[in-house]
Amino acid sequence: MVPANVIEDLKFRNNIEDVIASYVTLSRSGSNLKGLCPFHSEKTPSFTVYSGDGHFYCFGCGAGGDVISFIMRMENLDYRAALDYLAQRCGITLPDDDSRERGGVSRQRVIEMNRAAAKFFHHMLMKSEEGQAGRDYFAKRKLSGATIKHFGLGYAPNSYDGLKKYLREKGFTDEEMVAGYLCQRSRKNEKNIYDCFRGRVMFPIIDVAGNVVAFGGRVLDDSQPKYLNSSDTPAFKKSRNLFALNYAKNKKEDYLILCEGYMDVIALHAAGFTGAVATLGTAITPEQARIMKKYTDKVVICYDSDEAGQKAADKAMRLLSEVDISVRVIRIPGAKDPDEFIKSNEPYGAVRFREVIENARTPFDYKIFQTLSKYDISDAEQKVRAAKELCYAIADIRSKVEQDIYIRKAAKALELDAEGIKADVRGIAKRRAAAQKKKDREELLRNTARLGDRVDPDFAKEKRSGALESTVLGLMLYRPEYIQLDADKSLLDPEMFFSELNRRLYLKIRECYDSGGFEFGMLSEGFSQEEISKASEMIAKRRALSNNGEAAFLESVEALAMEAEKIKNRGSDADIESVIERRRKENKN
Ligand code: UTP
Ligand code: MN
Repeated sequence: MVPANVIEDLKFRNNIEDVIASYVTLSRSGSNLKGLCPFHSEKTPSFTVYSGDGHFYCFGCGAGGDVISFIMRMENLDYRAALDYLAQRCGITLPDDDSRERGGVSRQRVIEMNRAAAKFFHHMLMKSEEGQAGRDYFAKRKLSGATIKHFGLGYAPNSYDGLKKYLREKGFTDEEMVAGYLCQRSRKNEKNIYDCFRGRVMFPIIDVAGNVVAFGGRVLDDSQPKYLNSSDTPAFKKSRNLFALNYAKNKKEDYLILCEGYMDVIALHAAGFTGAVATLGTAITPEQARIMKKYTDKVVICYDSDEAGQKAADKAMRLLSEVDISVRVIRIPGAKDPDEFIKSNEPYGAVRFREVIENARTPFDYKIFQTLSKYDISDAEQKVRAAKELCYAIADIRSKVEQDIYIRKAAKALELDAEGIKADVRGIAKRRAAAQKKKDREELLRNTARLGDRVDPDFAKEKRSGALESTVLGLMLYRPEYIQLDADKSLLDPEMFFSELNRRLYLKIRECYDSGGFEFGMLSEGFSQEEISKASEMIAKRRALSNNGEAAFLESVEALAMEAEKIKNRGSDADIESVIERRRKENKN
């Protein structure tokens, strides 16, 4: 068991506001913070962060807990991995890390191994004989020595055991290499492992803390797959990393440039656009949007000019706008991607690209541009379709002022009356709001109903006792001095708790207290997220009330003791009856 003081320290160093803010856009509401709940879909914020005592609670779906349970849910980690994650986040090492002995490969270990692998790949590229193929490739792509060094690019030799041998020498185990996605197990013989990346130029993916968390590798010819990327490992989640963010976070400009590929990012950085980042072979995720929001309020989307790229741009616009990033979109003229654009405009690549950026369109101007190039508006029927498409797009815009601006723009572009467009937009917005409200309500009902009976089935059976138990536990969790009071005066007894969940909570609190101290985070070991949410709900109830003094606690304890006694007697009554019943039957026979 990780002792309470260690958990306290970990929570102190990982401020719950900061941690949650990297996933959820929070705004201040009194002394707390509010945002849209990441655990259920909602349009009005009911997810609350209590910075003061380090808790979160969603009044919509009932999810709650502390920074540890938040990370467990968000990153899908078990208790120990969440502690490691938070320790890593604030740069400390947890005492006697027993996770290694338990067989799991830790994040730290994968990062150490990746660093060694990056060194190996880079050395192969720069110094080895087989690295010539890689050197030729990068020369063909016009990368300078400085750029290669800056990004720590490398070459994975075309062999099944080059890296494996190197890493073994450095003391890494087969299991670690497989967990870190540097090697994989042979299908014929599970005991054999071989290098994943072979005959590829290598792009290390480095997180904002400077750790090598993964790799991408490109073939030198036209074979498939063109790029191979690390799968998720203990050190890496594809959906929440961006290539080159480690550099882009210190960008000169006040915006980030989002592009599709490794080579685009590298070409842009080399041309002086240091805010360029790329997602890693996937469409942008909400997590990546939130991460970008941490570093900027402005993003220029600069995807490939093909149809796939343009579709992806639509999604990126939506996700980035949702986190209140101001978005601009570029359609690269005369080239398939930024890399090609810069290189085909040499020696003016950088100058021309800056012009393109300066002329980037707002999402809506971009939408008008796309729509006008799709429909022939001299044809009445096509014009109606174009208008409809634009009305739906305008209805998506949250600000009414902005809506009005675009209503006028759309009217002008389509040569239509603005009032007509306005009426259509308002109609769409109304229908949508009604549908959303209905959905939110249904979702809420589903969630609360499910939580109620599955997590604590005993509550419904003895409602009075259940309420008293929640009060007593809520007070103990909200004001930990009552845990001490209970221990000092031996007030409570596990048998007083009718609900099995509440009894377990009480036993855990006592057990922790007796062995050095209780910290809410300790519940994350042994209790499910839903059960922890129940505990958070108890705290949330106390927080909303003012009578949380010692007298209230003592009274509740007493009432609970009496209730427990009553239930017990009722229980024995029932027992007597069943004995009588049995006797009656026996007598008959
Ligand atoms: P592209 O096919 O546009 O490649 O894929 P690119 O970046 O322009 O590369 P070059 O210029 O041909 O070398 C864009 C991005 O999609 C991911 C990679 O992250 C790539 O940079 N991708 C692409 C993969 O993950 N796997 C693939 O097989 C292809
Ligand atoms: Mn491309």
